[in-house]
Amino acid sequence: MCGIAGYIGKKKAAELLLKSIKNLEYRGYDSVGMVTSSEGKIHIRKGAGKVDEVNAKLDFPSMPGTVGIAHTRWATHGKPSDRNAHPHISYSGKIAIAHNGIIENYLELKESLQGIEFKSDTDSEVLAHLIEKNYQGNLLKAVQLSLKMVIGTYAICVINTNSEEIVVARNGSPLAIGIGKGENFVGSDVSAFVAHTKKVIYLNDFESAEIRTNSVSIFNNEGKKISREPKTIDWDIEKAQKGGYKHFMLKEIHEQPQVVRDSISIPVFFPMKERPSRIFIVACGTAGYAGLVGKYIIEKSARIPVEVAYASEFRYAEPIIGKDDLFIAISQSGETADTLAALRLAKQKGAHTLAIINVMDSTIARESDAVIYTRAGPEIGVASTKAFISQLVVLYKLAAELSGKKYDLTTIPQKIDAILSQEEKIKETAKKYFLAHNFLYIGRNLNFPIALEGALKLKEISYIHAEGYASGEMKHGPIALVSDEVPTVAIAPRDSTYSKIVSNMQEIKARNGKIIAVASEKDGEIAKHADDILPIPTTEEDLYPLLTVVPLQLLAYYIADLRECDIDKPRNLAKSVTVE
Ligand code: M6R
Repeated sequence: MCGIAGYIGKKKAAELLLKSIKNLEYRGYDSVGMVTSSEGKIHIRKGAGKVDEVNAKLDFPSMPGTVGIAHTRWATHGKPSDRNAHPHISYSGKIAIAHNGIIENYLELKESLQGIEFKSDTDSEVLAHLIEKNYQGNLLKAVQLSLKMVIGTYAICVINTNSEEIVVARNGSPLAIGIGKGENFVGSDVSAFVAHTKKVIYLNDFESAEIRTNSVSIFNNEGKKISREPKTIDWDIEKAQKGGYKHFMLKEIHEQPQVVRDSISIPVFFPMKERPSRIFIVACGTAGYAGLVGKYIIEKSARIPVEVAYASEFRYAEPIIGKDDLFIAISQSGETADTLAALRLAKQKGAHTLAIINVMDSTIARESDAVIYTRAGPEIGVASTKAFISQLVVLYKLAAELSGKKYDLTTIPQKIDAILSQEEKIKETAKKYFLAHNFLYIGRNLNFPIALEGALKLKEISYIHAEGYASGEMKHGPIALVSDEVPTVAIAPRDSTYSKIVSNMQEIKARNGKIIAVASEKDGEIAKHADDILPIPTTEEDLYPLLTVVPLQLLAYYIADLRECDIDKPRNLAKSVTVE
């Protein structure tokens, strides 16, 4: 998840591009770079750090030229460093590229480019060399030809020494072209250029474009020119940084289909050759609930005992853990103090350690024997959503690796899309319940952790008291809380425990409790047992957590919004909890 920007016109490109990448910085901020083209030369400045830090050292605005591209990075291949920062330059120094996405076959392509000295550890650099190799006087054609050899996702922005055009293309990563008068712009989203033009053309997958000062030409997959009218957007700059969404959290919820797509191809591995005797999954908050789903799926499929612990408890519980055990730390930030301390303790006791982390090169990632990076991209909203879904995908992949069981994750993105298309219905449901003071969340089996996660989402952003329970536990105490003023959210997909949770719902109804059910869309029975239904598509039983969590995120979001809460920065919380 990086940000890319481009400018061609009569103004000083570097000054303008600096503002563009500042606006795109939410997409990733571990390194930054810029290339301009003037008087037959490519000028490049780049370095590790945030835009302001790098600019203070390199003074981007002093770069010459009226054509340029810029990039702000969220590292995937190659740690954040000066040499890995984009843009990348081709072997003769004539072509520069900025890339957002992942080139899956970069090693294979690299082999085909033998003799060329690579200057970075990135997958992206290969594109610069490949384009130069295919260049025969027409940059657009060289880009189109090169991309035919690429497997992976990309939004790329390319310039060369002639200063006449910017060539862009996309597959799987977003790209927008801003249409100006005597100038044109490129951005990963419109926040890159909305201060200059509100006319925008969005590229679709496998399309490319040649952008000149006074023209923009779009080409389809076969290289044929196509016409597309620009759209007029009515965003202000503040809204645009959030991609048009009111809050980062809502944007991040909507990014989940793509996050699952990206996460499916994450390679998984273990830091030990032999099968672990036991697995410990240790984490905090939402990451811990992902771990709890992991326990169900690993124990069911691989028959290895899994213990899940709050990191803050693990370290004080004198855990019985040793060299035959695998310790898995899960953390979005990779900096959570308790998770880090638990990791250090597990290492000290001789366990093999594996970390599932979103932020590259973070402390937990560095200190673990092995690390698997989730592909959620930068998560800005304090309430974790897309990182959770990516953690789940990694855990399904680990369970599959340990057991040989196959999970069909490929249908999940479109099913999440189907849930997102029900957003209005979820909003209407939120309107009925947003004034409640207490909520209960119940689920069974793999959906018990989702009940805990749903309750956490609601409490942290709406400040409503909410608790999650295994629904079978209700009779052992919590049902005493049920009244017509305490709504219960029941996670009740059509799975093997369906009849059990329906009984629990009836017990709540019999005590005047209101029920919001997350239920399969084809369930003709559920309306008899619930006051409101949040429908989800059906899927194989073990995969339901990937779907059931999404309506709960949206329900929490809309309830918090109706209560006018500061959703992206809830009171008392921080995105990264680096103290015990
Ligand atoms: O960065 P981490 O994943 O280690 O953070 C763990 C928790 O602090 C985090 O999941 C927290 O519970 C979120 N605010 C939940 O939305």
